[in-house]
Amino acid sequence: MTDQPYILFAPLLNPLSDEAADWHPSGALVVDEHGRILFSGNASELPERFHGLPELRRPDIIMPGFIDLHTHLPQYDCRGKFGKSLIEWLNSFVYPEEARLADESVARDMAQRFFRDLIKSGTTTAMVLGPSFKHATNIAFEEAERSGLRIILGKMQMDRLAPGSLCEDTAQSLLDTELLIRKWHRKTPLLSYAVTPRFALSCTPDLLKHCGRIAARFGTHIQTHLNESRAEIAAIMALFPEYQTYTHILEAMGLLTERTILAHNVHPTVEELSLCEAYGCAVAHCPDSNLFLGSGRFPLEQYRSTTIPFGLGSDVGAGTTLSMFHMMRCMTYVQGSSLHPFIPLYHATLGGAKALSIADQTGNFSPGKQADFIAVRIDPSFFGGMELAQLSPLAIASVIVYRSQAQDVSAAWVNGRLLMA
Ligand code: GUN
Ligand code: ZN
Repeated sequence: MTDQPYILFAPLLNPLSDEAADWHPSGALVVDEHGRILFSGNASELPERFHGLPELRRPDIIMPGFIDLHTHLPQYDCRGKFGKSLIEWLNSFVYPEEARLADESVARDMAQRFFRDLIKSGTTTAMVLGPSFKHATNIAFEEAERSGLRIILGKMQMDRLAPGSLCEDTAQSLLDTELLIRKWHRKTPLLSYAVTPRFALSCTPDLLKHCGRIAARFGTHIQTHLNESRAEIAAIMALFPEYQTYTHILEAMGLLTERTILAHNVHPTVEELSLCEAYGCAVAHCPDSNLFLGSGRFPLEQYRSTTIPFGLGSDVGAGTTLSMFHMMRCMTYVQGSSLHPFIPLYHATLGGAKALSIADQTGNFSPGKQADFIAVRIDPSFFGGMELAQLSPLAIASVIVYRSQAQDVSAAWVNGRLLMA
């Protein structure tokens, strides 16, 4: 909610698809008292009825806030720790770090810094894998609520092949999850729950099946990992020899739904992609993480020939930063050939909203959506003496994708309200 409606006069960049974006160098964005967009476009075309509303002016480029489709809050402080492979890295660094969040002061401090830094990086919506502990997840939700961000969050679940305090009793894990759902799912329009079984290696079939049932019962999202690295796939298939593929395991457990976000899926067979497509699942592409752990190359062209929605995720802490500017560049680098900037721009914004089935609420500036946007300062040397109005949508998208960074974000708004980082 905002206190009152307003018009923001600013240059507007509005992603429409992976092939198109609108660019209004002298733009106007009208936001109502509920934080809803009533108009976006050229200021010269502003309808009469909006004249006279309170005015704001920004010199920086205004674009939709980023959507981070996959990130781990408890791993915020263990970014950049070299591990030879996914499994070795999890055992050496991630699990010991995640165990620290049993201490509520560690959990509080990390959650505060994590959400503050999301705002500073220009991310306005994030799907977050939370701590393994009920209390720490409660704290994470409290801080998410305080941040004013749009957050989908869940307690991490593991009931086998995990060390010490991270390995839960199956029934307790489900009980805690249900409690957290009852307390937080849709508590406010900005908060919702995602049932979060880590991956098939660290969850028993019993836990996986019940996760599917709980998510169906409460209508929550599901977030888990799939087909990230060759060694991980081999270890999982050894545990589930009766299934044809990793995706077939998730299908049998009832985890493939229209509200499921599958992280990575960089090594799918054609049949597995067809399964994802048939169930309407979405994928979180995490290119920084894939490069860091040497997990593999996301088969972008194959995905683009399907209807599978996908967006970008930072996957902190295998991802080295929360910056979605970095993720957009990594998306190109992992392909090994240059991508038109509209492609990463779309997958970091509207594509993520479509993957989460919230494109009716956020992702770009279509009237009727909530006003989730950021201001990005552009290095004046880029303009070479030209006026903004002389620059094409391609030139603006190019400087945003290939030259900007988190420090260039000067402000962020969710539901039309300025967030305090
Ligand atoms: N697979 C299971 N857990 C994890 C995790 O924490 N990070 C990554 N990148 N992959 C995983
Ligand atoms: Zn992950």
